[in-house]
Amino acid sequence: MGIENDLELTKLYESKYCLNVFGPAPIAFTKGKGVWLWDTQGRKYMDMIGGIAVNSLGHNNKALTKAISDQASKLIHCCNYYMIPQRAELAFKLCSHSFADKAFFCNSGAEANEAAIKIARGYFYYKGQPEKNEIITAKMSFHGRTMATIAATGQEKFRIPFAPNVPGFKYVDYNDIAALEAMVDDKTCAVMLELIQGESGVHPADITYVKQVKKLCVERGILLIIDEVQTGVGRTGRLFCYENYEIVPDIMTLAKGLAGGVPIGAMLCTDEVATGMKPGDHGSTFGGNPLACAAGNAVIDQLISSDSTLLANVNSVSAFLFDKLNALKAKSDKIKEVRGMGLLIGIEFDSSIQAAGMKTRLMQEGFLVSAIGESVIRIAPPLIISQREAAMFVNTLAKILKGNRK
Ligand SMILES: Cc1ncc(COP(=O)(O)O)c(C=O)c1O
Repeated sequence: MGIENDLELTKLYESKYCLNVFGPAPIAFTKGKGVWLWDTQGRKYMDMIGGIAVNSLGHNNKALTKAISDQASKLIHCCNYYMIPQRAELAFKLCSHSFADKAFFCNSGAEANEAAIKIARGYFYYKGQPEKNEIITAKMSFHGRTMATIAATGQEKFRIPFAPNVPGFKYVDYNDIAALEAMVDDKTCAVMLELIQGESGVHPADITYVKQVKKLCVERGILLIIDEVQTGVGRTGRLFCYENYEIVPDIMTLAKGLAGGVPIGAMLCTDEVATGMKPGDHGSTFGGNPLACAAGNAVIDQLISSDSTLLANVNSVSAFLFDKLNALKAKSDKIKEVRGMGLLIGIEFDSSIQAAGMKTRLMQEGFLVSAIGESVIRIAPPLIISQREAAMFVNTLAKILKGNRK
């Protein structure tokens, strides 16, 4: 028997040999199909978190696994000294379906944001304005775990233990245009925002605010970086979340759902911004390799093909979930708010319910979600989830809330 079926050995090795940064629940999964996962004990769970917005096509999606295994049997990796057809194809598809003219591929969301930060500074450097190097980000944002991206993240808890932090970042209240206007000065090179702050509790930006931010960036000649690591690739019911806000960024970052679970990140930008990096200025050994890009192409194909119903499914299941969850809220004073967009939804409870406890209760009932802070659970299921499956989740949540009634 391999370790993948041996939970006790996995627990021992996890606690003894893996750096203790995740505090994982004592379960492990051996296989998946669609929105379902099976653990080492053969127990079935509905994956309502989808690897935190990663398993966009669900588990064991036929076309995705075929693309990966076909590519793996031909060529997994070759280096960036050479042209990579799969990378070229993915860049073409992403650029033709977005505002962008150029794409750079890497391996994670943090790495995509690193590229965005670097190119924003490089853009002004090569224009002869190296003093324009400060980036304004939002309080309560999350942009990653590398040194530059923790500096970009507007939450002290991620930065303080790892000081000195990378300089050149300022933090402004989210959804407050006056505060942003007051902060922009001659040193500002970019504003960097999530359109939905996922990691701090699923807080969407106001549409008027985002439009005002765009206008401000244009007027002041600064760049708008939109971090779509969590919201991109169909998650919010459009291919990219910025489409919901009727603006276009200058730079956008993607990762999570882009290759359905194969590590990938992407930084996309306009031709104008692309002048911010010259040959040799940036790179990544694994970034854009044939395997990751073959997976990316398989995911994007399922979203953009003319007969695709995936985005329509996101929108209809989303409407169903908001409808049912809001109905539950109307009946139960335990739910304070239901918010988000598409299939990225936060459910905030009142102080009688702890998010961590609710996550555990749902797991006992066979549903996987994430808990954020004291009071919010987040769901980000695969985009292929059916209405019937979504209903199973809502019914179970209702049952738990009913049992919790004082
Ligand atoms: C908005 C946002 N940006 C960046 C990141 C970092 O991505 P990664 O963990 O792939 O480095 C995340 C991860 O949760 C995210 O939600």
